[in-house]
Amino acid sequence: MLGTPEGVKVVDHPLVQHKLTVMRDVETSTRGFRQLLREIAGLLTYEATRDLELTDVHIRTPVAEMNAKKLAGKKLVFASILRAGNGLLEGMLDLVPSARVAHIGLYRDPETLQPVEYYFKAPDDLSERVVIVVDPMLATANSAVAAITKMKERGAKDIRFVCLLAAPEGIKHFREMHPDVQVVTAAIDDHLNDHGYIVPGLGDAGDRMYGTK
Ligand code: PRP
Ligand code: URA
Repeated sequence: MLGTPEGVKVVDHPLVQHKLTVMRDVETSTRGFRQLLREIAGLLTYEATRDLELTDVHIRTPVAEMNAKKLAGKKLVFASILRAGNGLLEGMLDLVPSARVAHIGLYRDPETLQPVEYYFKAPDDLSERVVIVVDPMLATANSAVAAITKMKERGAKDIRFVCLLAAPEGIKHFREMHPDVQVVTAAIDDHLNDHGYIVPGLGDAGDRMYGTK
């Protein structure tokens, strides 16, 4: 893939790249992987929220009165694609503790690589909120596309997608299906293998987070 595709922001900050390398390493423990995902989540969220609207408020500091900035509008919604999305979610909530949370239960059928939905719960008023959908891995993008379609069906209009790693094939598919949704990722890897895994990638994010196989 030559250059960064339109609608995609690669967060090439040194701290993000360092943490990602440790996460990729097969020798990194479950505990280390989970902790690093939480830490990187904050840095990715910082980028994904860069253009949030601000409003002026009048406050009094211990020294003087002033007009200052606060976030405008309703609280953000973070929508986690289960299971692995929860690893990013924790770090995002560290940064924005008052955000509302949606859970989208999807697993990828290993044969068809199609997502199977098993759970959905989201706040009602999605049309009035900025929604950030999160999942560490954008491989075929089937899961992310399905999750965002669901959020749109429930009224969401201003949506961003945050992941840790993306495959070029996934980005292409995602951009075709949801060209209005910006993708924020720490890296775009080389390709997908025959099993739909990102290469070089980091393996199965959910398994590495929770110590399952
Ligand atoms: C992984 C990952 C994404 C999906 C990405 O989830 O967390 O949700 O695969 O693949 P895709 O882009 O090809 O759809 P998985 O289905 O393994 O479920 P888990 O998070 O419960 O382990
Ligand atoms: N899901 C993962 O967790 N890892 C991949 O490489 C692809 C899909």
